[in-house]
Amino acid sequence: MKRIKISKLLKSNVPKDEVLIKGWVRTRRDSKGFSFIEVNDGSCLKNIQIVADSTLNNYQDVSRLSTGSAVVIAGKLVESTGPGQEWEVIAGRVEIVSLAPESYPLQKKRHTDEFLRTIAHLRPRTNKYGAAFRIRSELSFAIHKFFRDRDFKYIHSPIITGSDCEGAGELFKVTTLALGNPPKKDGKTDYSRDFFGKEANLTVSGQLSAEMFALALGDVYTFGPTFRAENSHTSRHVAEFWMVEPEMAFCDLEGNMDLAEEIIKYLTSYILDECIDDLELFAKFVDKSLMSTLENVASSDFRRLSYTAAVKILQKSGKKFEYDIAFGKDLQTEHERYLAEHHFKKPLIIFDYPKNIKPFYMRLNDDNQTVAAMDVLVPKIGEIIGGSQREERIEVLEKRMDEMGMPKDDYWWYLDSRRFGSVEHSGFGLGFERLLMLMTGISNIRDVIPFPRTPNSIEF
Ligand code: 4AD
Ligand code: MG
Repeated sequence: MKRIKISKLLKSNVPKDEVLIKGWVRTRRDSKGFSFIEVNDGSCLKNIQIVADSTLNNYQDVSRLSTGSAVVIAGKLVESTGPGQEWEVIAGRVEIVSLAPESYPLQKKRHTDEFLRTIAHLRPRTNKYGAAFRIRSELSFAIHKFFRDRDFKYIHSPIITGSDCEGAGELFKVTTLALGNPPKKDGKTDYSRDFFGKEANLTVSGQLSAEMFALALGDVYTFGPTFRAENSHTSRHVAEFWMVEPEMAFCDLEGNMDLAEEIIKYLTSYILDECIDDLELFAKFVDKSLMSTLENVASSDFRRLSYTAAVKILQKSGKKFEYDIAFGKDLQTEHERYLAEHHFKKPLIIFDYPKNIKPFYMRLNDDNQTVAAMDVLVPKIGEIIGGSQREERIEVLEKRMDEMGMPKDDYWWYLDSRRFGSVEHSGFGLGFERLLMLMTGISNIRDVIPFPRTPNSIEF
């Protein structure tokens, strides 16, 4: 007999004479002549209740089953007469695969997120983290579906790169040189003797690769891990995170904002439709306003306004912010959240940022001061998307790189794309973990990624 997953079993909603279930014991309670065992197999939030009769030949062992033990159960699915569940399995056979001792850390009580982070290898076995990571899986699928339905091609951009896309210098170096004793030339490390013959690092963004492919395949996207050595201890930054980066040829900033709004709404509706059981757990235990937040995101038109207009609103707000706000300064999370949560009370898109706070590749506006950048801000989180129309005019791009002191030789191939058949094009990066925070109401980014990497923390 083939095993059936609990998710499938409960969906079919009809009795079955023979079922085989494999999973882990959540709880067990005994009553006269019976043991009731709650088994979960990770396929869904719900457990299935197993009724083990004292006539089972191994009942002695069964009645000692502890939380966390692995079991295989063959039996019959019947409508339950007891309260609390619609269906239960009358066990014909209970095979104990392995027993978990009492030292199993996930006994039946609520644990703090901080404690669970110290046992990140076990936390997916809890209801909350099981739900979070099932939603993460569904959301990944939904992203591919969104793009495929719109005829975007999926590109695998490299993990190891020789260029710094964002120009912010928050790079993890990749090297095979001996750290203590690297070869030197003129007093400096001689990277010509390194593995790639030059400096290499982990990618901070797949954008530059995506641009090359957009100018060949039209509409493309990447969806992969990115790495930033930012030493920021916030609840919204990790050193390794996943980013979704669409890039569209023949597309201006307006089209870019349209796609950003469409994908956020699509994914929110998708999760509301497909993950309701798991979402309800978060609405009950994590964020009471989750459902109204998600419905608001899915149904409202995102407010669009320029950076200059946003700065004016913040200055007039009368609110005391920790960081000053003035034209030319980057918006901080407190500013972003004020706008999304308090002022507009819905997602918004801010565009046309000052050029001095944005990377080299963003398209210069006619005012010579701002670039065609856009950020999408959502309630509770702040920035979830960052993107722009790209500078397609080679003279302007080269001038900008010179101003910023960038080594143009290293970017010869990027500049080539502006020499041969250059067209207006645009794209953005959607932070996948920030998206999950929005979907679940989880307020710390460390709790939406399986094994978070942050400064001084790389256990697991
Ligand atoms: O705004 P960012 O830096 O944009 C880029 O990397 C562009 N090259 C994207 C593009 O146009 N193709 O990052 C994009 C998003 C942010 O809005 C945020 O959601 C997320 O990536 N992000 C992080 N998420 C978690 N931890 C970090 N350290 C993050 N840094 C950025
Ligand atoms: Mg950004």
